[in-house]
Amino acid sequence: MIKFTIITLFPEALEPYLKTSMMWKAAEKGLARFEFVNLREFGLGPHRSVDDTPYGGGDGMLLRCEPVFNAIESVKAKDPMAKVILPTPVGQIWNQEMAQRMAGMLVKTTSARAAFAQPVATGGRRSSSPCQAPEALREGISATPDTHYIILCPHYEGYDERILSIVDYKISLGKYVLTGGELPALIIIDSVVRLIPGVLGGEQSAQIESFSDGDNLEYPQYTKPYDFRGMKVPDVLLSGNHGEIAKWRAEHSGTAK
Ligand code: ADE
Repeated sequence: MIKFTIITLFPEALEPYLKTSMMWKAAEKGLARFEFVNLREFGLGPHRSVDDTPYGGGDGMLLRCEPVFNAIESVKAKDPMAKVILPTPVGQIWNQEMAQRMAGMLVKTTSARAAFAQPVATGGRRSSSPCQAPEALREGISATPDTHYIILCPHYEGYDERILSIVDYKISLGKYVLTGGELPALIIIDSVVRLIPGVLGGEQSAQIESFSDGDNLEYPQYTKPYDFRGMKVPDVLLSGNHGEIAKWRAEHSGTAK
């Protein structure tokens, strides 16, 4: 069973989504498990502070190392093999292949293009640069369907760079900046969990849909009524000719821009 532990200051922002629809069903069926660690509990001093001003000056506050390391280490004490994911706008851009890899569907890196999000460290502070482990950069991910992922959700203006030394994967949701890692965490979890066999209704749905084979987009689909305000369903789809239907679908599949 795949497991996600989400380290966040705002578990209440994530819980409702994970208790709804497919994510809830996945948990109910024992196919996925979601746990939360409230970063505030690892805060410092009477105010349980988790952030501070940047050395060298500048606007905003940065997540401090101590609460983050203590939170991650509390999870790793129970499961030392857990992998740490950091959502950040400077990470590897998330895509379907990475979701498949994380779901344990693709376990071997076959090409440079197939490489998963670049790991930034292997879990220690061993290399000469505290935030880089070149050997890990080449490896890609080799997840199994049982992998435990810790997703650290930063907030405020950013994080102390030394936090990267305990991060395995930096993942970006795209070239825009969000206020925190909570939305990226939900997107990563959703896109991975729905791929796990048994989570979606039709067993083939995750296989044939958009992006499951590289950049192919899904073909157009229709349901009843046949005629909606003058817009009719293409007749080939009513023909019962499976060969012609497959050909039409192939011809009408889009390509990602
Ligand atoms: N945190 C803030 N912006 C982000 C982005 N685009 N992707 C992932 N994490 C983020």
